[in-house]
Amino acid sequence: MTAAVLDVRRVAKVYGAGPTAVHALREVSLRVERGDYVAVMGASGSGKSTLMNILGCLDVPSSGAYLLGGVDVGTLGDRQLALLRNRRIGFVFQSFNLIPRMTALANVELPLAYAGVRAAARRRRALAALDLVGLADRAGHEPNQLSGGQQQRVAVARALVTEPALLLADEPTGNLDSRATEDVLAILDDLNAEGRTIVVITHETEVGDRAKRLVRLRDGLVVSDDRQDARVTV
Ligand SMILES: Nc1ncnc2c1ncn2[C@@H]1O[C@H](COP(=O)(O)OP(=O)(O)O)[C@@H](O)[C@H]1O
Ligand SMILES: [Mg+2]
Repeated sequence: MTAAVLDVRRVAKVYGAGPTAVHALREVSLRVERGDYVAVMGASGSGKSTLMNILGCLDVPSSGAYLLGGVDVGTLGDRQLALLRNRRIGFVFQSFNLIPRMTALANVELPLAYAGVRAAARRRRALAALDLVGLADRAGHEPNQLSGGQQQRVAVARALVTEPALLLADEPTGNLDSRATEDVLAILDDLNAEGRTIVVITHETEVGDRAKRLVRLRDGLVVSDDRQDARVTV
């Protein structure tokens, strides 16, 4: 049996200590298998970003364990963690985080440059990733020459170009209008149909409705975890 893409085991996160301590997550458990598409929803303050930071190996739990591809990240040092993050996770953020004054193509090539891929292969793979999000014809444009929706599609291409095991998105449509939101959601649908594993953190019902599985957080606890088929009323 292959390991789950991610396996969160009774993870808690406490910020601070003593009477002012904030229990951002209280014993959250969550397994995600290859090919799944999970939306994590919850009100502001429910612990979404805290969970995202742990899933993305950007922060560590106060207790419990987090396994990424079967590897307990708690046993890794900073350098190993950075490598794991670079190789296994593609990040998409609310604010796109593209580098200004660099073309879309150069932005998408960047993670490959960090991974030591040679220039010709970098270019070919980055163009293929831009093609996947429908922006091959904008490869030479800089971020400020692109709409918000196009910038986010470039960010998705950048997240995918390393072929990560997990695409992790934090409020990816939070800064987009409804048309651009639909474009990005359609791309996530396509990517998942091709077998990519996606976890998207959102407070938008529209986004949650698209995922195969919906996990709801409230006050640092998972209060529901349903497959889409079970959500459909017949
Ligand atoms: N660095 C921090 N220090 C102290 N408290 C924090 C920190 N980050 C988040 N929190 C608190 O943890 C709780 C969960 O926050 P967060 O994970 O950002 O929720 P969400 O993303 O769902 O809005 C909130 O009560 C928040 O104020
Ligand atoms: Mg948040």
